[in-house]
Amino acid sequence: MITVNTVSALRAAVASARQQGLKVGFVPTMGNLHSGHAELVSKAAERTDFVVASIFVNPLQFGPSEDLDKYPRTLAADQHKLEAAGCDLLFAPTVAQMYPDGMAGQTRVSVPQLSEGLCGASRPGHFEGVATVVSKLFNMVQPDLAIFGQKDYQQLAVIRAMARDLNMPIQIDGEPTVRAEDGLALSSRNGYLSEPERALAPQLYACLQSLAEAMHAGRRDYPRLLADAQQGLQEQGFRPDYLEVREARHLRPATPEDRDLVILVAAYLGNTRLIDNLQVKLSSGG
Ligand code: PAF
Repeated sequence: MITVNTVSALRAAVASARQQGLKVGFVPTMGNLHSGHAELVSKAAERTDFVVASIFVNPLQFGPSEDLDKYPRTLAADQHKLEAAGCDLLFAPTVAQMYPDGMAGQTRVSVPQLSEGLCGASRPGHFEGVATVVSKLFNMVQPDLAIFGQKDYQQLAVIRAMARDLNMPIQIDGEPTVRAEDGLALSSRNGYLSEPERALAPQLYACLQSLAEAMHAGRRDYPRLLADAQQGLQEQGFRPDYLEVREARHLRPATPEDRDLVILVAAYLGNTRLIDNLQVKLSSGG
C-alpha cells in the first residue's frame, strides 16, 4: 500500500490503475480505524481491483463545540490495518490540501429534507460538511464503487441521495454495522467511554432489539412505545438525544402502515454521543 498526501499524487496513482483497466473502489474514513472500517475495505477489495481509502478528519462536519481537536489521529496504526484489509492506496491529505482557499468560501453541497431531523437536528451543518467533503473526495478519486457503514444510517441516506441527485456515476454500497460481542456498535468514539460507561453502552442496542421485537409482535403505537423506551434509557443512565422510528428509505416519520422501517437512536453517556440503528422489515400482514 502506498500513502499519498496530495491530490496530484492521488490522481496519478488512480490514473495508472485505470490505465491497467482496474475497477476502482473507495472507502472514505476519518481514521482511528476499527474492524468495522477493515470490513468495508475487505468488501471493497472483493468487489473491485484497486482499493483507495482516505483518512481525513474533516473540520467542515464538526460543530464549534464538538470533538474536532480531540478526535484521535492514529495514522501509523491505521496504515497497518488498511494494508492488512487489502487497501492499495491511502489518501491522507492535510486540511490545506483539501481546502486550499479556506473553508468560509468553500462551495457547499447540501441535501435538504434527509439532512434535517435526527442527527441533523442536534448537529446543524454536519451533513452539509459530510456531503461537501464526500463529493470533493469522489471528484478526486473518481471511483466506480464507494462503500459506507450502515451504522451512520442517515449519513448513508444523504450520500446516496447526493450521488443520485447530482448524477454521480458511482455505485454506493452500505455494509451492516460491525458489533462487539456484547452488541455495542463499533465506533471510533467508543474509546472515549469510561469503564462503567462502556459496560452500560450495549444497552443502547438492547433497547433497539426490544423495540423491534415489540413491533414484530404487532405494536404500532410508535409514539407511546418510543416514549417508554426513551424513559428506560434515561433510567439506565443515558441522556437520549433522539429515539425514532422512520420509514427506511426516505427517513419519513413512520406510519402504522409502513413495513420497511428503521429505528434510530442517539444518546449521550457522559460526554460521549453514541448512535445506533436497527432495520425492521415487518411482514405485510402483521
Ligand atoms: O463516516 C465518516 O467517517 C465521515 O463522515 C466521512 C464519510 C469519511 C466523511 O468525512
